[in-house]
Amino acid sequence: MNQPRSGMMPLRQHIAGDSSTNMSAQILDGKAIAAELRVQIKGRVDDRRAAGQRPPGLIVILVGENPASQVYVRNKRNACEQVGFHSELMQLPADTSEAGLLAIIDELNARDNVDGILVQLPLPAQIDEGTVTERILPTKDVDGFHPYNVGRLVLRQPLLRPCTPKGVMTMLAHTGIDLSGKDAVIIGQSNIVGRPMFLELLMARCTVTVCHSRTRDLPAKVRAADIVVAAVGVPRFVKADWVKPGAIVIDVGINRLEDGGLCGDVDTVPVSEVAGWITPVPGGVGPMTVATLLENTLLAAELHDKPRS
Ligand code: GUN
Repeated sequence: MNQPRSGMMPLRQHIAGDSSTNMSAQILDGKAIAAELRVQIKGRVDDRRAAGQRPPGLIVILVGENPASQVYVRNKRNACEQVGFHSELMQLPADTSEAGLLAIIDELNARDNVDGILVQLPLPAQIDEGTVTERILPTKDVDGFHPYNVGRLVLRQPLLRPCTPKGVMTMLAHTGIDLSGKDAVIIGQSNIVGRPMFLELLMARCTVTVCHSRTRDLPAKVRAADIVVAAVGVPRFVKADWVKPGAIVIDVGINRLEDGGLCGDVDTVPVSEVAGWITPVPGGVGPMTVATLLENTLLAAELHDKPRS
């Protein structure tokens, strides 16, 4: 195996107070990798300013008061501030109509100082997510959810790529392992994670299996995988005896427990005795999603700078 790059540390150090287990996995420290990315992005924002260009601008729209969404939106805005982006939060009431939201998007599509428009999901029932996603200009779609951007990813000509899968690919690059020919299993088939993750791993020349609620003998499929991506939304779903020794295990889940704590979709401590690499929760995929949103917003600003032919 190649030497791991930065952003990695033995998991034993990472799980505070745990000295009893026989951990072999190295940790893919999303928090550290995201911090590195932010430094690079801030450097590019500083260069833009020095060249007389405006900072990238992101508008985040939150409809209603979903507590988890409020936390995610706050994290995204804080990250924008750290790298010197212009950011605005539009907080709309839960009874906002679909027509009202579409009119706001039309106005933002036309604004020159807006490079990225992010509508936080889920939306209230009266608003159709597909209609809203399609209304955002593809070049301002920093979530990468517009059918144009999904289609480009399908065709291996990606432009703005969904943040969580792209962030996972950045983490995988930090292992230093050549992904070509590896067997990957994704658990979960959502539009936000599972499906674009499939396209990303396929583009990296993995052989990819997407598993879902109708999949037969899931443990056997996971056992055959060199790379496992868990995005199922069930606490500690992936068990240690499902995991191939040395596998890379990516935990996209973030589940709130009854005691107020957080855990992922992977049974982290026992799995870390088997896996070669593992992402923690919190501090793994979550910070990478936010840092990748910054990357996408910077890319969108660069696209908007280019003279149109
Ligand atoms: N809700 C959960 N994840 C996401 C995301 O990546 N983008 C948006 N817009 N909403 C989400």
